[in-house]
Amino acid sequence: MASKTLEGIKSIENFQIEDKRLFLRLDLNVPLDESGRITDDTRILAAMPTIRYAIDKGAKIILASHFGRPKGKPGDREKYSLEPVAAYLNDALKKEIILVEEPAANATKQLLSGLKPSQIIMLENLRFDPGEEKNDREFAQKLAAFTDIYINDAFGASHRAHASIVALPELVEKHGLGFLMRKEIEMLDRVRLNPEAPFVAVLGGAKVSDKIEVIEVLMDKVDTLIIGGAMAYTFLAAQNISTGKSLVEKDKVRFAGELLERAKARKKKLLLPVDHKITRDIKDTASLTITENAAIPEGWMGVDIGPKTIALYAQELARAKTVFWNGPMGVFETPEFAEGTFAVAQLITESSAITVVGGGDSAAAAHASGLADKFSHISTGGGASLEFLQGEALPGIGALKPIKRSDKEMLIESTGEVIEEPKRQ
Ligand code: 3PG
Repeated sequence: MASKTLEGIKSIENFQIEDKRLFLRLDLNVPLDESGRITDDTRILAAMPTIRYAIDKGAKIILASHFGRPKGKPGDREKYSLEPVAAYLNDALKKEIILVEEPAANATKQLLSGLKPSQIIMLENLRFDPGEEKNDREFAQKLAAFTDIYINDAFGASHRAHASIVALPELVEKHGLGFLMRKEIEMLDRVRLNPEAPFVAVLGGAKVSDKIEVIEVLMDKVDTLIIGGAMAYTFLAAQNISTGKSLVEKDKVRFAGELLERAKARKKKLLLPVDHKITRDIKDTASLTITENAAIPEGWMGVDIGPKTIALYAQELARAKTVFWNGPMGVFETPEFAEGTFAVAQLITESSAITVVGGGDSAAAAHASGLADKFSHISTGGGASLEFLQGEALPGIGALKPIKRSDKEMLIESTGEVIEEPKRQ
């Protein structure tokens, strides 16, 4: 389905990329364990179709990504190096990945001219250069100096106005998106622009404060809003239901109360847990018990939704035609507290709805449930998918719109010189 958001934006397939220096901006920001092993390769796998396409078409590939949030502290260059990702791609693609320590240095240009078909260049963590996060034009010019075609396939980073996301495509005339970006935009547009009814949104996670904007937007669109996870306790507190020592955001209780009123006034269903799994301490699985109703006794804390709640949510999910899921129903990282989250994952995937998972913790939960391949789409963006859903124009998508040229306006040539700023249409 063609998406309005994509209007005027070119895709990698629209360019003749054979033998061209192709800058692939990816989001290869994957989690590592203490030994530096990749613990979740979802984002790398999601970028593979674009990488493989570029290989098949014979492009001279420059892979680029950020990795974590280095702050220039001693040890950061090791801690936030893309080395483990380069090693992973080396094995997966059976190609030598040449990791370039200083992306902005001239070495990249020289390396590219001698690149063999069995080799791919990968730039070290773009955030090692302070220019990246500042959307610095000078840094972008250095990258543009060795780029013929720029492709953004980093949906997860496209809410950041950073140099490799915004300034660079503004300098490289031939720019467009990759296959992952297209899929993300098309699927999330189906949810935000014309969701088929009944539309059920399932929101969980720890904090109401992280989800205020998305709740406000979804409230207008959904038929039913299901709330679980620790954020449900703030809503229960707003109804004067006891929450024991569960996590409650005191300064958001009023907002939660107003939201309950709004839902009622608009005749939208807003479902909250009617029972819980509770424990005396988050580390204490032995005391785990189930409440009779929505109230949590003093000295106890909620860690998951209970069986009556699962049955209640099941009724709504069974008749849904569109489901958006963001945030786990409990502390799913602890197996004893994961039942509610996995049950919801199962109910969502059993429905006949279009089912979209909005990144971050929910993507991790979807994978941990073993049902990942049963969802219509699991976004690789955490913050990006929520911002996109809220209707915000992501800087990384805006920067891919065509550049309007006039006689006076000069675009960058491969020399890296910019005479005047190009204007966006
Ligand atoms: C993410 O992990 O959500 C993306 O890679 C963006 O990372 P950031 O939040 O550090 O910009």
